[in-house]
Amino acid sequence: MIKKKILVTGGAGFIGGNFVQYMVEKYPEYEIFNVDVLTYAGDLTKHQAIEKQGNYHFVKADIVEQDVIHSLFEKEKFDFVVHFAAESHVDRSITDPGIFVQTNVIGTQVLLEAARRVGITKFVHISTDEVYGELDFDPTTFFTEDTPLKPNSPYSASKASSDLLVRAYHETYGLPVNITRCSNNYGPYHFPEKLIPLTISRVLTDEKVPVYGEGQNIRDWLHVFDHCVAIDVVLHKGVGGEVYNIGGNNERTNLEVVKTIIQALGKSEELIEFVEDRLGHDKRYAIDSTKLKQLGWNPSFTFETGIIQTIQWNIVNEEWWKQIISGQYQTYFNKQYSI
Ligand code: NAD
Ligand code: DAU
Repeated sequence: MIKKKILVTGGAGFIGGNFVQYMVEKYPEYEIFNVDVLTYAGDLTKHQAIEKQGNYHFVKADIVEQDVIHSLFEKEKFDFVVHFAAESHVDRSITDPGIFVQTNVIGTQVLLEAARRVGITKFVHISTDEVYGELDFDPTTFFTEDTPLKPNSPYSASKASSDLLVRAYHETYGLPVNITRCSNNYGPYHFPEKLIPLTISRVLTDEKVPVYGEGQNIRDWLHVFDHCVAIDVVLHKGVGGEVYNIGGNNERTNLEVVKTIIQALGKSEELIEFVEDRLGHDKRYAIDSTKLKQLGWNPSFTFETGIIQTIQWNIVNEEWWKQIISGQYQTYFNKQYSI
């Protein structure tokens, strides 16, 4: 049995949390270390079921704290790093960009440096399709791994900056890295500031759903379970130094997404409220995942099956998101929206 130590950063968040659960269950022979500082987006209640398993460990730490992170690497001698920890919400980056540079850029450099000093087998950096900027509405165009980086928001600029540091650590020091650039995720434990969980929670409570502009911007949706499998494939099979795009091939306008949820819950479209557009709002994202598919990955969820599963999950787990929206989230919501 091969015993490996894996550091997952941001494993109390949405995608990192799903990935930790996936890895703990799939690889009992691996030891999974979840390092997270627990910002507003991190919560550990989701991990109650795996906490008792011997191969899961939680360490509360800030990835920006160089001494803490370097000591942890010295002590544990990780084989793999899968780096999710980030400030992830575009709207928050528009109102408060500074923390995005701290966490997403400086935090990534701290981890890269720690990984370089102790030596690791693989560093997987979880990035985003937003680093490529936006596409127009021509449905035949897609982001490939060779599309130039042209980020538009402070969030995507901070992620693109971190991607460049990851690339530089490979080119300069030979650090074995992969960068993944994924489209919009959805699924269990999605924080209700993002479009899909925000819509589901507000429709379930009969409150207005804010849609930016005319709702015609397009996103490509990937179920988070499919994303976890893709990262597993890149971790074990990705060629050092390579970038892999990950997409769901499920392009929808925001209005289509919101209407699908309203219809599935049997509510009225009068709940939709068109509000002032997001500044610098990217028109469309769409991904060409051919390179990753050549490593044997394929998504298993269609948007139709995934969105119903996600709605049902939110109905069964309403305690989880109701606890979130009753706290400091209300202050954020009232500042962000005037509805
Ligand atoms: P999230 O906001 O749900 O979770 C982020 C996690 O990182 C939280 O648990 C938070 O506590 C932790 N964190 C933040 N700052 C930290 C710090 N300084 N030190 C330690 N931990 C810290 O994010 P998510 O949506 O799960 O996204 C995870 C990653 O995937 C991000 O890097 C994001 O850029 C990328 N990504 C997200 C999507 C998406 O659709 N959500 C798509 C593509 C890529
Ligand atoms: O593409 C990957 C990215 O997807 C990730 O890198 C980001 O971390 C993740 O947050 C997500 O970014 P988006 O900005 O695309 O996701 P969000 O859910 O915030 O918005 C999706 C679309 O819905 C976008 O066009 C803006 C619109 N929207 C969003 C909110 C929150 C609304 O119309 N109303 C809203 O209230």
